[in-house]
Amino acid sequence: MLRRAGYSQIILTREPVILVFDSGLGGLTVFAGIARLRPGADYVYVADDAVFPYGRLEEHVLIARVRKIMETMIAQAQPDIVVIACNTASTLVLPDLRAAWPKIPFVGTVPAVKPAALQSRSHMISVLATPGTVARDYTRDLIRDYAAHCEVALVGSRRLAPIAEAFMHGQVIDDAEIAREIAPCFVEAQGRRTDHVVLACTHYPLLLPHFERLAPWPVEFVDPAPAIARRVDHVLREAGFAPADHSATPRLGAAVFTSGREAEGPLVRLLQERSLVQRSAPSTLMP
Ligand code: DGL
Repeated sequence: MLRRAGYSQIILTREPVILVFDSGLGGLTVFAGIARLRPGADYVYVADDAVFPYGRLEEHVLIARVRKIMETMIAQAQPDIVVIACNTASTLVLPDLRAAWPKIPFVGTVPAVKPAALQSRSHMISVLATPGTVARDYTRDLIRDYAAHCEVALVGSRRLAPIAEAFMHGQVIDDAEIAREIAPCFVEAQGRRTDHVVLACTHYPLLLPHFERLAPWPVEFVDPAPAIARRVDHVLREAGFAPADHSATPRLGAAVFTSGREAEGPLVRLLQERSLVQRSAPSTLMP
């Protein structure tokens, strides 16, 4: 520990432990943003692939499942901060988690409606999410509070998160199916058309090159990862951690898959590229 000159605040000189959580590999899009800002931190990435996809779960089931994972993983990893890198979970479970662990900061991932509505010129935006996120009061409140001046198409896709997951496992994916899933995001009316599409599921940026290629016209696809990374950095500084050292050598982090399945093929490379190595999941997390 150091004392910051002229301040009474104590600066923690150790690296923070950052727990990043999603239902699958989508949270890696958020993880990558955070790791770019704070490469030297200690990372634990948890994917609840035993239960994936979250988008189809009933709310009470999802709340109980995330609580169970957090009980186990917080006890094991002792994180300084937890990032819920999943819109489907964040739009529902954050109040419960913050009440259960009042001393741990939780940073969520929620649909980036506000920046899209601010930046849109046509005032026609779309929010592409899972059926769970589309159904949440939280999402509807965001639209009411920040996008009242816009026409908003709220598009729930059952298929895109599983397609993104398959793609990351090296499977062949079907352009026609992706085009069908994103089509309702593109709306034309009275000479105006959609100009911003919010990627409100962390799996979707994994398919960004496909979206850009298959879009009927160019739009801005809004990926919240950089904003979340900045928020994480801010919260860590407030908690007393030293400013990020962007040039730090990345440490080897842990990737935990609740299914217990061993990563193979392209997934191993994907983890390696992100300085993550698979660690076995606690057996209590297998449903
Ligand atoms: N990646 C998740 C999200 O941001 C959800 C995918 C799923 O499990 O349905 O919403």
